[in-house]
Amino acid sequence: METYLKILATGIALPDKVLYNADLERMVETSDEWILTRTGISERRIAEKDVATSDLAADAGRMALAGAAKLPEDVDLIIVATATGDHLFPSTACIVQDKLGAVNATAFDLSAACSGFLYGLTVVHSLLSTGVYRNALIIGAETLSKITDYSDRATCILFGDGAGAMFVEPGTDGKGLFASHLGSDGSLTKLLNLPAGGSRMPASRETVDSGQHFIKMNGNELFKVAVRSMEVAATRTAEKAGIDLADVDLLIPHQANIRIINSLGKRLGVEKEKVFVNIDRFGNTSAASIPIAYHEVRAGGRYDHDSNILLVAFGGGITWGGVLIRG
Ligand SMILES: CC(C)(COP(=O)(O)OP(=O)(O)OC[C@H]1O[C@@H](n2cnc3c(N)ncnc32)[C@H](O)[C@@H]1OP(=O)(O)O)[C@@H](O)C(=O)NCCC(=O)NCCS
Repeated sequence: METYLKILATGIALPDKVLYNADLERMVETSDEWILTRTGISERRIAEKDVATSDLAADAGRMALAGAAKLPEDVDLIIVATATGDHLFPSTACIVQDKLGAVNATAFDLSAACSGFLYGLTVVHSLLSTGVYRNALIIGAETLSKITDYSDRATCILFGDGAGAMFVEPGTDGKGLFASHLGSDGSLTKLLNLPAGGSRMPASRETVDSGQHFIKMNGNELFKVAVRSMEVAATRTAEKAGIDLADVDLLIPHQANIRIINSLGKRLGVEKEKVFVNIDRFGNTSAASIPIAYHEVRAGGRYDHDSNILLVAFGGGITWGGVLIRG
């Protein structure tokens, strides 16, 4: 019998501090009107100086565990998808394990940038289907503000901080995640990257002075690749699920740019009312974008147990992915 990934509960964590477009107008040469029309973003959340990715991840994880009525010691596996881990090592997942007191869990990080949460769900689907683990806490968490250059108007308008989590178990009642498709193209690493701080370019006075510890992005190229790769992810996932794109009740795309989201909806033939958008409030939160969006959809209670919800993402690497959730 086919195993589904049953989503017992979700959680999110968002910093209180809001960075409005008006604030950015005072920092770089830009305008609220430009940001809104080119990206769809009005505001984004920014973590305080003393808050790291693991703090947001643990808060979101705690909320998901409470929602699922589970104790920390019940957790078998913790995966944190992030591009802004607390350190190069140890993994942020191990830090989260400790913060939660999930003493019986195996914990590791997953690196696939903005597609990380969907990669995590797909990996967990396999591990739970084969009985290797009995349940998992999957978290997408980022503090992108820590690697954003607030003097670069092309990138600083886009990114925000936050975390989203899901507590999942295997299920056989036909509800939950049942199909997915992942892909990558390593020839396009240059489109979005963080040059320094790893073994290729270790941190030095020069790397700091030349701003190599900040996100570098080719926005125009990435825009095209984003639409193309998410179209592939959506189409292949629907094929694998054995459903027509016309049967998708809700499309939740990675929240990177409203124009990318609109182009994707158009290419897939999914009506605007069926495309979820919250980019106006949170900007691009990378690996946290999909789980925050899914949490809001679930909390809204509009989708019943027979709805087909298609989640799609793309990110640095480049990577892309789609998953189909029923209910
Ligand atoms: C970054 C992005 C919003 C830029 O929008 P765009 O319509 O492609 O704009 P362009 O880069 O072509 O720039 C157009 C002009 O606006 C200017 N500009 C760039 N950022 C600006 C800003 N914040 N405010 C005002 N003007 C800005 C550029 O300098 C350029 O000026 P020029 O014509 O005088 O050279 C868009 O390319 C994008 O969203 N790409 C995808 C990025 C992404 O998703 N990254 C995360 C992946 S997970």
